[in-house]
Amino acid sequence: MTRIAYVNGRYLRHAEACIHVEDRGYQFADGVYEVCEVRHGMIVDLTRHLDRLGRSLSEIRIDWPMHRPALARVIREVLRRNRVRNGLFYLQVTRGVARRDHVFPAPGTRPSIVVTAKNVDPAVIAAKNAKGIKAITAPDNRWDRVDIKTVGLLPNALARQQAREAGAQEAIYVDAKGIVKEGAATNVWMVDQDGTLLTRPAAHGILRGITRTTLMDVAKTLGIPLREEEFTVERMLGAREVFITAATSICFPVVEIDGRTIANGHPGSVSQKIREAFFDIAEKTSIW
Ligand code: PDD
Repeated sequence: MTRIAYVNGRYLRHAEACIHVEDRGYQFADGVYEVCEVRHGMIVDLTRHLDRLGRSLSEIRIDWPMHRPALARVIREVLRRNRVRNGLFYLQVTRGVARRDHVFPAPGTRPSIVVTAKNVDPAVIAAKNAKGIKAITAPDNRWDRVDIKTVGLLPNALARQQAREAGAQEAIYVDAKGIVKEGAATNVWMVDQDGTLLTRPAAHGILRGITRTTLMDVAKTLGIPLREEEFTVERMLGAREVFITAATSICFPVVEIDGRTIANGHPGSVSQKIREAFFDIAEKTSIW
């Protein structure tokens, strides 16, 4: 089957889909993006993802590339054309194409938009959930506006690579005071010894993950006590459970951090319960 990508108004063969060399996303990482899960042919939490896209766009002063309902139609069309049942779509909007100059291009420069989609084998995710993953900690060396979902992900890519070379799957950012921030591409959670679920407040210093927001609804429905509260690496290492969340993975249990085993080294029951209930509680939009 031929993969199809949407680029600036056209549905193109994925292998031939391209963006101009002077696109500001390419030259300045001047753009924002979203990644959204698709499960059983349903887009998970589309409204929240598009709301966050709107916020990211407005924070860096890029106009919506098209009306929101039209964008939702493009997303569904890309998913259908790629026959995605379980997987994700990726959406990127940049400030568009202009002669290289740091300042914004002339008003009226059209933002560039790309939408791609792919299938992800649920068995691969299930295997990770059954086994748990390993993480390392890393100093947070990113800019101050990580609340905006920009395509400027070089520190995140370097941190993930560092994790890979250490035999781990995620790098957890820690600030200068030893307080946990978030993963290179995930939010971080721990279950305290009394069973309370903790995650760092999202007002500043991390991305407000959509999975994080919906997981709060899930915890409430399941009656799991939850507090938005900062925690140190030391406290996390002594947790009953640690897990990470993102639209690509819902919640992966973390069983080892910096070579230290978390609890008994096996995935915990809280993340499992949450994962099982998540899809039922999240908003679902059919791709058809
Ligand atoms: N990343 N924090 C960071 C730095 C992220 O990049 C992500 C998501 C999250 C979780 O957000 P959400 O629950 O909305 O996916 C937190 C995506 C999946 C990525 O870059 O591929």
